[in-house]
Amino acid sequence: MKSKNNLYKYFYIENYGCQMNVSDSEIITSILLNHGFFLSEKIETTDIVLLNACSIREKAELSLTRKLEQLKFLKKKNKILFGITGCFSKKLKEFFLKEKKVDFFVEPDFYKKIPNIIQYISNDKIIPPSFFSKNRKETYEDIIPFSDNKKKITKFLSITRGCNNMCTFCIVPFTRGREKSSNPYSIIKECKRLYKIGYKEITLLGQNVDSYQYIIKNKSIKKDMMVKFSDLLSLLATEVPFMRIRFSTSNPHDMSESVLNVISKYPNICKHIHLPVQSGSNKILKLMNRKYSREKYINLIEKIRNIIPECSISHDIMTGFCGENEKDHQDTISLMNEIKYNYGYMFSYSPRPGTFSYKKLKDDVPKHIKKERLKEIIDLQREHSLFRMKEFIGKTQEILIEGISKRNNKNWYGRNTQNIIVVFPKKNFLSIGDTINVKILNNTSATLIGEID
Ligand code: 5AD
Ligand code: SF4
Repeated sequence: MKSKNNLYKYFYIENYGCQMNVSDSEIITSILLNHGFFLSEKIETTDIVLLNACSIREKAELSLTRKLEQLKFLKKKNKILFGITGCFSKKLKEFFLKEKKVDFFVEPDFYKKIPNIIQYISNDKIIPPSFFSKNRKETYEDIIPFSDNKKKITKFLSITRGCNNMCTFCIVPFTRGREKSSNPYSIIKECKRLYKIGYKEITLLGQNVDSYQYIIKNKSIKKDMMVKFSDLLSLLATEVPFMRIRFSTSNPHDMSESVLNVISKYPNICKHIHLPVQSGSNKILKLMNRKYSREKYINLIEKIRNIIPECSISHDIMTGFCGENEKDHQDTISLMNEIKYNYGYMFSYSPRPGTFSYKKLKDDVPKHIKKERLKEIIDLQREHSLFRMKEFIGKTQEILIEGISKRNNKNWYGRNTQNIIVVFPKKNFLSIGDTINVKILNNTSATLIGEID
């Protein structure tokens, strides 16, 4: 279907939140371009503004609300359509509808309907309720995500959508639905296509990549074949042997030894695992419904370090969850001291409407305590990051050049296999997208500094 309306032709899309949202924005962009719409680089020259929302933490939702407030003048001045796509809570939707700030909402399983929705609105028609009947199978594997020609080096690719885990604090199972895995053949095809057009690194995305599974029905031998995450990784490692392969996020409960063996076996599978722990206290892990204990988690870290000694490990930790007392907090501190992660993402708990913890548990840690505990773990992580960075000094690392350093345009920046940023002086014989050996000479807590070896 081509866009028939003259009213709304140009769209602008802005992202709030995680890597998954970046990937979703590329899918939405492709869908609209395929339907005769045009991408507008500036918000001032557009007819349609799409804000791709994330509601996993309160902060992302607040910045979206602020943005809409800022854009109010545009809506008054021009006839612009405002749409919110992605993950948003029912509460947020109701608020925006009441305030008449947004023209339409599209949940993650219905992006293909955006062109029709715009058509309905431009014809002043009401969208029938049946239009959004549940679509449990949408993986978008038939859509080639949009590629920005300016940044053709690294790319995110969703391999699973949704999540079945039901951690009590998390809104994802409600906004993104049950887990769905994409067909491995489409994933391989897309990676091969990306490699052909110049991409050098792909990050496979999913809320819980380790639970990826796809059943291939083989009618001729009347036997089904199950492709698990470790199988998908081996397939990709051999089918696109010169492409770097990363993945995120791993769930400690589902990460298998076979995945670790595959990472260790193939040089093009990057040696980095993002393994959110959330808390070091067994009591809190149970309240979070995280299905592993502190001991099992530490055991898994030992396994990773045995099988892939050079592997870097990062985390997500949440402070101030319901019922967290000083002892629980100290359990998190001691776990961090035991593991000494390379880096991590740290948050304080914010109740999300609709989740189990919002409905059934008491958000009983005072704000100032949440803040203090968060600061303590951030400071500790900085110490650990410095410690881990020092381990690279004097070593030669293979770096994929991703661009020119923002701080000094005489330097390149890129990443090593462990996903650590490395900066080093530019040389004329190299260009963005090349891989080069760099000797590490110095460091900060977030960056390694080196020179070409
Ligand atoms: N409050 C704070 N942080 C949260 N996260 C998920 N839900 C919440 C919440 N309600 C964090 C978790 C998760 C990361 C993506 O976001 O640490 O791993
Ligand atoms: Fe949310 Fe837990 Fe699923 Fe992660 S694993 S998306 S925290 S429910």
